[in-house]
Amino acid sequence: MAIISIKSATKRFPNGFEAIKGISADIAAGSFTVILGPSGAGKSTLLRLMNGLETPTGGTVHITGETLGKANLRKTRSHVGMVFQQFNLVERLSVVTNVLTGRLAHRSWLGSLFYLFRNEDMEIAQEALARVGLTDKAWSRADKLSGGQQQRVGIARALAQRPKVILADEPVASLDPVSSEEIMMLLREICDRDGITVVVNLHQVDLAKRFADRIIGMNSGRVVFDGTPAELSPLALQTIYKRDEIEDDTNLDLALAYA
Ligand SMILES: Nc1ncnc2c1ncn2[C@@H]1O[C@H](COP(=O)(O)OP(=O)(O)O)[C@@H](O)[C@H]1O
Ligand SMILES: [Mg+2]
Repeated sequence: MAIISIKSATKRFPNGFEAIKGISADIAAGSFTVILGPSGAGKSTLLRLMNGLETPTGGTVHITGETLGKANLRKTRSHVGMVFQQFNLVERLSVVTNVLTGRLAHRSWLGSLFYLFRNEDMEIAQEALARVGLTDKAWSRADKLSGGQQQRVGIARALAQRPKVILADEPVASLDPVSSEEIMMLLREICDRDGITVVVNLHQVDLAKRFADRIIGMNSGRVVFDGTPAELSPLALQTIYKRDEIEDDTNLDLALAYA
């Protein structure tokens, strides 16, 4: 069953640039999908369409059977946890307070305004921290942690939301190779054990091949490949990393080095 369904979506920004040029894709519940492509391909825009941070200029996006729109944005978004490249933590706050902010999606606006959390929220937050192996860091200031640990906090915050889907936009782009590996393993495990659907944007071919069930390859706002890691041939990689006017020259070399 598709938990996210994108139907003929386009996204033209106010400046006239069309970043998404007609994409249809169904994301199966419980699957681990990697959206792969060079910088500028439209990966972040596609991910933002999936949780309503951007509105499509054409087509529709459906989450758990509901069409994303103004009326149900808050509700549908509460099913979707986000993980970011730069972690997006409140650096001066404690780790556990950062995780608690993941509960805000389930609180009234008044509760949100005053950061009113219930005991139940604290239990959920502590549970999420245990899930990512950071129980002992709960009361540390977020900015005292390493990059890999900060990203674990970002994942715990998403988990505290009790989401059906986690969307991760380049979650390892700011991390060293060992931490990158650990974060990808953690996301994979969250998909396998907790049954949460995971969609990860990546530009690293090797990580996509190793962790994904399915790879959606993008180039210039279009899907140019959709298949399993085993189906990702060198030719398919060339299509994904095909340069055009705006792409930088390192993309194809990088892709082929990993092929
Ligand atoms: N708000 C915006 N206004 C105009 N162009 C944008 C905007 N956001 C992104 N773009 C452009 O859309 C294209 C795709 O961007 P993005 O989705 O961030 O790609 P990726 O995540 O694959 O690097 C890029 O050319 C980018 O410059
Ligand atoms: Mg991006």
